[in-house]
Amino acid sequence: MRVLVTGGAGYIGSVAVEQLLAAGHSVSVLDNLWRGHAAAVSPDAELHVRDLRDAPGVEEVFAKSRPEAVMHFAAATIVPESMTEPGLYFDINVAGTHNLLKACRDAGTERFIFSSTAAVYGEPERVPVTESAIPRPINVYGQSKLMVERMLEAYSQAHGLRYAAFRYFNVGGASAEHGEDHDPETHVIPVALLTLLGQRPRFNLFGTDYPTPDGTAIRDYVHVLDLVDAHIRALDHLDSSLGPINLGSRAGFSVQEIVAAIEEVTGRQLPVERNPRRSGDPPMLVADAGRAKALLGWEPRRSSLAEMIGSAWNWLHRHPNGYAT
Ligand SMILES: NC(=O)c1ccc[n+]([C@@H]2O[C@H](COP(=O)([O-])OP(=O)(O)OC[C@H]3O[C@@H](n4cnc5c(N)ncnc54)[C@H](O)[C@@H]3O)[C@@H](O)[C@H]2O)c1
Repeated sequence: MRVLVTGGAGYIGSVAVEQLLAAGHSVSVLDNLWRGHAAAVSPDAELHVRDLRDAPGVEEVFAKSRPEAVMHFAAATIVPESMTEPGLYFDINVAGTHNLLKACRDAGTERFIFSSTAAVYGEPERVPVTESAIPRPINVYGQSKLMVERMLEAYSQAHGLRYAAFRYFNVGGASAEHGEDHDPETHVIPVALLTLLGQRPRFNLFGTDYPTPDGTAIRDYVHVLDLVDAHIRALDHLDSSLGPINLGSRAGFSVQEIVAAIEEVTGRQLPVERNPRRSGDPPMLVADAGRAKALLGWEPRRSSLAEMIGSAWNWLHRHPNGYAT
């Protein structure tokens, strides 16, 4: 299949490009390289350096690459930034995605796979959270993703777009070739590993008095290769719209467990500073991924802490300054 991957120069998108190529698909990438890296894009994919907010530029990419499916990873993704720069988030995540949807409608591209997020749920009343929970995002990032989910449903009803909106919880790990190189880096595993490499003075742990077994917050992590596997499976299941689908492992790991696993895998001691809870961080957020299993036969297979941390550590060892090295 001809697949257009937006955000293919970013963390998850670059792994998707690699895995799509390995599965025999033909891949084009649309990325403005704002927070991505040209070096992260496999040379066998065609890179179009374009901004989602530039509608004629997006149409041009469609005319050149004639995609049969779109995997849409490109976005602004940092929660605190979304609260201080809401316009940026509505411009890129909502208006930019709308340019993409219009291009799909005009080009007759009917399969669309979207990177949504657990942030659409806000602080859910029950965990593990199912897709039927009423979404109540508590930040602009989550609101922008929920708006896109609503646009997808409207385009599905009106124009026959067939879509899956994968709600990711937390993503970790690396493939042999591609890993996490965010600037700024805000994710727990790479932040801790960069601390071990001496690039940060200490690891800040927020909240030690949660009602969890060890007092630290519990989150659901999926290995990036497992996550991408769900997207590739979805390509073959988009005979009709699949709607929102959680991608998680249900189990969840506490921050303290992650710290212990990092010390175990690397054999080094992590300097940890314990801080009070941050507002808006619930004690436990884990996914019920039953729909992903029922619809796609998907289950996480590589999402142990040892595999996620081990692969991320290997990649960082080879790329201590990210794609600059
Ligand atoms: N990483 C996670 O843990 C996580 C969790 C939940 C959801 N997600 C979602 O998954 C997707 C990918 O996340 P990631 O961690 O790989 O992000 P990333 O920042 O590594 O990659 C995003 C890519 O999009 C590109 N981009 C941003 N704005 C653009 C624009 N206007 N035009 C063209 N390209 C643009 C960036 O240059 C970058 O290469 C995002 O949509 C994110 O919201 C990620």
